[in-house]
Amino acid sequence: MKKIIIIGASSGMGMKIATDFARAGWRVGIAARNEERLRAVRDLFPDRIVYSTIDVTAQDAVKRFENLIEELDGMDILLYAAGTGWYNPELNLGKDEATIGVNVTGFTRIINAAYRYFKATANVSKGRIAAITSVAGVKGLGVSAAYAASKRYQWTYLQAIDQLAHSQHVNVSITDIRPGFVDTPLLEGNHNYPMLMSVDYVAPRIEKAIMQRRRVATVDSRWAVVSGLWSLIPDMLWRHLEVKM
Ligand SMILES: NC(=O)c1ccc[n+]([C@@H]2O[C@H](COP(=O)([O-])OP(=O)(O)OC[C@H]3O[C@@H](n4cnc5c(N)ncnc54)[C@H](OP(=O)(O)O)[C@@H]3O)[C@@H](O)[C@H]2O)c1
Repeated sequence: MKKIIIIGASSGMGMKIATDFARAGWRVGIAARNEERLRAVRDLFPDRIVYSTIDVTAQDAVKRFENLIEELDGMDILLYAAGTGWYNPELNLGKDEATIGVNVTGFTRIINAAYRYFKATANVSKGRIAAITSVAGVKGLGVSAAYAASKRYQWTYLQAIDQLAHSQHVNVSITDIRPGFVDTPLLEGNHNYPMLMSVDYVAPRIEKAIMQRRRVATVDSRWAVVSGLWSLIPDMLWRHLEVKM
C-alpha cells in the first residue's frame, strides 16, 4: 500500500487531500498542532490514517516527523501543506515572525528531513516531495510582506533541492504547487478576495500535479495567467500598484 505524509492536514487543503488519498486506498500520515482536529480526520478512515501532533516551529519537529514515517512504515510522498500568514499592512512584527516560523523555518526542517529520508531510501521506487506554496511568491506584496517573501523562499528552496537531487542522483521528484486564493481558514475574517476557489475545486488539481510529478503547478489556469502577468511588471511600476484585499 502506498503511503503519503501530509504536514498541515488538520484543516483546509491539507485535510481535504488527506481524506482523498485515504479514500483512494493509501495509508496516510497526518500532522499539525491541533490534536482534536487530527483525531477527527483520523476517525474518518481509522484503518488508513495515523496522526501525530507536530509543531513545525518546535525543535522536536524533525524527530516527530521521522517517528511518523516509522509509524507509517515508510513514505512515498511528503506533502507540506502547513502554512500561516496575515494581511499585515501595519507590519505587526509578531505576525511577520510567526509567518517566518511556519513558512520558512518549519518548511525547511520538514523538506530537508524528507530529502534526507529519500536520499537514504528511495533506491527502488522514486519518492516525491511536494509543497503548497502560493502565487504570492511572484512579487513583494505590500499588505503581506512576510507572507510573500516566505513563499518566494519556498519556491527557491524547492528549485534548489530539485537541482541537488539531480546532481546527487537522488531518486525523488520535487513539486511546487502555487494556488491563487482558496477559501480556507487561512483567509478567515479577511477581505474580499478575487477569483476565490473552493477547496473541493483545488484539491484534485493539486493531487494531479503531485501524481504527474510536475515541477511547478499553478492552480488554476486563470491564476497562472494573472501571476505570469504580475511577474512581467517592472519594479518601478509595481510600487505604484495599490493592492487592496
Ligand atoms: N488559502 C489560500 O488562499 C492559499 C493560497 C495559496 C497558498 N496557500 C497555502 O496553502 C497552504 C495550506 O493553507 P490553507 O489555505 O489550507 O490554510 P489552513 O486551513 O489554515 O491550513 C493550514 C494548516 O497548517 C497547519 N499549521 C499551521 N501552523 C503550524 C505549525 N506551527 N505546525 C504544524 N502545522 C501548522 C494548520 O494546523 P494547526 O493549526 O492544527 O497546526 C493547518 O492544518 C499554506 O502554506 C498556505 O500558505 C493558501
